[in-house]
Amino acid sequence: STSQDCWRPALHFTAERFWINDPNGLVFAGGQWHLFFQHNPQGNTWGHMSWGHAVSDDLLHWRHLPLAIPEDESHMAFSGSVVIDDRGSSGLGADGQAPFVAIYTACAQQPVRHQAQHLAFSSDGGVRWTQYAGNPVLDIGAQDFRDPKVFWHESSGRWVMVVVLPHERKASFYASPDLRHWSHLSDFGPAGGVEGIWECPDLISVPVQGQPGRRAWVLKVDAFEGHPTGGSGAQVFVGDFDGSRFRATQPARWVDHGSDFYAAICWAHVPAEDGRAVWLGWMNNHRYAAATPTQAWCGAMSIPRRLSVRDDAGALVLCQEPVAELATARRERWQCGPFALGAGGVDEVVRLGAGDVLDLEIAWRPGTATEFGLLLRCGGQEATRVGWDAERRALFVDRSLSGLGPDDPVYRLPQYAPLAPQADGRVVWRVLLDRCSVELFADGGAVVLTNLIFPSPESLELRAFVRGGSAELLSLECWALEA
Ligand code: FRU
Repeated sequence: STSQDCWRPALHFTAERFWINDPNGLVFAGGQWHLFFQHNPQGNTWGHMSWGHAVSDDLLHWRHLPLAIPEDESHMAFSGSVVIDDRGSSGLGADGQAPFVAIYTACAQQPVRHQAQHLAFSSDGGVRWTQYAGNPVLDIGAQDFRDPKVFWHESSGRWVMVVVLPHERKASFYASPDLRHWSHLSDFGPAGGVEGIWECPDLISVPVQGQPGRRAWVLKVDAFEGHPTGGSGAQVFVGDFDGSRFRATQPARWVDHGSDFYAAICWAHVPAEDGRAVWLGWMNNHRYAAATPTQAWCGAMSIPRRLSVRDDAGALVLCQEPVAELATARRERWQCGPFALGAGGVDEVVRLGAGDVLDLEIAWRPGTATEFGLLLRCGGQEATRVGWDAERRALFVDRSLSGLGPDDPVYRLPQYAPLAPQADGRVVWRVLLDRCSVELFADGGAVVLTNLIFPSPESLELRAFVRGGSAELLSLECWALEA
């Protein structure tokens, strides 16, 4: 197959060729959104880990740039972050320019596995990088110690790093005045999901909905195993951070009820006028990533999502919505409803339209049906079912007939996310469909399911279904997205 095979997404990031995993060093600078990422520049499987690089003006269209940080003779360049040192604290800037500073995990395999944090810097906007002569900047002699996320902590006036001790299920905090010298502050964990090793932490200051100026601290940590759908997934702790120590004030929650959202980090240096917390994740699962069927490239990022926290009577709930920029990719729009389905007590399927790159919102009034919803990418025996299960009161995604996929039973299992009808009785969700993915958003973004799919290119129909009784499709509003 070619590099333009049928699953190459229209609006989700992929490498020009070959394997990607985690987003790295997300940073906004010079009016552009930079995306660095774990990349194998030599093949379509994990290995030779290096930092790839792309930039975007709108978080939707990406321009590929040369490999930023390659592996060297003795180390692979694992995950990490980038900051803009606009205070000159590192002394690494040239000509009074604020340098890009990357801090990432250098992983050596010989003579034994060893991970330490290295620094590289760039004076040309992240294109060419120089290794800092004093590397490593943080080495505790550990085999596993990785994925540093660095940010400027305003009230203590210093840089803070959160990094993981994967096997101990701990997030470790460090502080630095200059990005070169780091001192240990505290550890958080084990807590929450501890079945799998911990990876890719981020400590995020997230705006609270409806309360201008109020923000909440959210610590995100990924777990390599133990996600409810099987395999790897992201969890969050909402809590307090005093500049030295993170304390969870609520139990851990899984970020996504689907299988394919991992290693997300937020963009650094988003201008104050913008004020958003925006992240994206690797749209995949460590359990089966290597067995996905694409040939010339492997791995895509999720759509960038704006984060907010909703205060549900004291319980702070993380919400994710596709960034508003996505609306600029909307093209033809169609609409239908209201109409009743399954009124005669007979299971019913109706055609609504067709397309492989769609953004839609659908609202239902439940009746007696046990299930109702949408069949995405239908054709022949294929369909990806997304719907509402009345008995469970849950949104679900079912990939059992969604086309090709890794040979892993977990991939075919239905996934459920609790979702009550709204106060007005309606059940509402949004679908963002691209050529190899379905992202579902409901309850203001508090309920999200992210999943890969690999349907046949001929399976293009969009249908509605009801089972076991009646339901009313109140409205469907659908946009074909620029593709
Ligand atoms: C997470 C991860 C990180 C590591 C990187 C290596 O997917 O395992 O912990 O830095 O990938 O590619």
